[in-house]
Amino acid sequence: MKTDLLIIGGGIAGSYAALKARAAGLRVVLACKSALEGGSTRWAQGGIAAPLNDADNAAHLHDTLAAGRGLCDPQAVRVFVDEARARLEELYVWGVPFAHEGTLEGGHGQARVRHAYGDATGLAISEVLSKRVRLSGTVVLEGAFARRLMRSASGRVCGAELESGGELLDVEAGATLLASGGMGRLFGVTTAPPEVTGDGLALAYRAGAELRDLEFVQFHPTVFVHGGRGLLVSEAARGEGGVLLNAAGERFMERYDPLLELAPRDVVARAIASESARGQVFLDLRHLGAEFVSQRFPSIRRQLLEAGTDIARQPVPVRPAVHYTIGGVTTDLWGRTTVPGLYAAGEVASSGLHGANRLASNSLSEGLVFGARAVRAAADELVCEPCAQRTPVETLEAPALARVREILDRAAGIVRSGPALEAALSALPRPRAADGTQAALEGGNLALLARLLLESALSRRESRGAHWREDHPETGEARHTVRRLETALR
Ligand code: SIN
Repeated sequence: MKTDLLIIGGGIAGSYAALKARAAGLRVVLACKSALEGGSTRWAQGGIAAPLNDADNAAHLHDTLAAGRGLCDPQAVRVFVDEARARLEELYVWGVPFAHEGTLEGGHGQARVRHAYGDATGLAISEVLSKRVRLSGTVVLEGAFARRLMRSASGRVCGAELESGGELLDVEAGATLLASGGMGRLFGVTTAPPEVTGDGLALAYRAGAELRDLEFVQFHPTVFVHGGRGLLVSEAARGEGGVLLNAAGERFMERYDPLLELAPRDVVARAIASESARGQVFLDLRHLGAEFVSQRFPSIRRQLLEAGTDIARQPVPVRPAVHYTIGGVTTDLWGRTTVPGLYAAGEVASSGLHGANRLASNSLSEGLVFGARAVRAAADELVCEPCAQRTPVETLEAPALARVREILDRAAGIVRSGPALEAALSALPRPRAADGTQAALEGGNLALLARLLLESALSRRESRGAHWREDHPETGEARHTVRRLETALR
């Protein structure tokens, strides 16, 4: 199959990019591993952040830079705040039922986080976007797993080899956009859905693209863990006045940050981890009233009730858990990776917006802003070259993957140290350079990323944002860690 733009991933970045590309007259194929309505976007609760008005641009820029701890690209943040509001307004016009009032979330100085369906903002966005994509003339391939990228003799990415229903399918494309999400499933307990296995990052790396700042994995402070699953309790719960209590029933955040429960995520997550050493930490919403909590957080309440806890009437036991991949495939302001023909947007990308600690709810709007930008660049740069080579594949079987997760949970959690990271690297099961089932290839992708993450964390000998080294508690010079395959196919 031949197309102008191949998009891998159907979340907010991929779906919005498909719509923009169709509006620009491009032929588009969108491939996603599960249903178009699947993926992380659908799971997003709290909301989507954008400046409230032009006068709020500077403050949103300031808050994003402050949360990013010196590692944001100021130009990327500027582009983001200048463009995010118009993108959100477009979603509203298309029918996403955003509530009138914004909410406060950690690190935001203004109530600029928009929500829909109470606490199911991602679901509302996903419903509207996927419906439009299906009517847009985009060729949607669901249940299609991207096994390898294809490259021309000059090294340009010229499409991908997909697997769908046991059949292999080559999609040759003038441009390929990765919008495939992060690598949350590298860890044992995460809020990420099962399909988030870092495929886009691994594909890009094996094609020779630069990956950046992989050590920055964001832990969401308030996750209710039930049966090994991480159920998110939105930051908006604290934005509406929810408080954190330690095992002694004391509100403790005043000992950690003057912004209390609404400090940026890295601070709140570390504070909870530290208090948890002395017993269970709870999130308490009872004082907000059961009726308000039920109306404002209907999905969270329902999920927690199914797990045996009533958030409207009881303090909920919470702990930090892996939530978001801050690092990713390095891109410029137009979504270009370091490899010609390959673009990236959304969680898979490192656009420079998040720095060392993503500001809450900036990611959905990032997908819109940089998804649209990537399409504009790709549309101007379409080149169809014949495929001459394919990126390699690697496999790792399920028991070895379980071991990888245990190692990562232990060594690459909220508090890290050089000796633990070194021990983890040497204990890490290695993937085999061999073909296999989709599950084994996903395992191979995660094993590769586990190694790159541990190497990056080891090389960052400082503490900054989401990366905390007990052997290097100081913050050093601001710099990026990068990983690149030296022997990229040529
Ligand atoms: C949440 O609702 O707390 C998640 C929002 C985000 O991760 O940006």
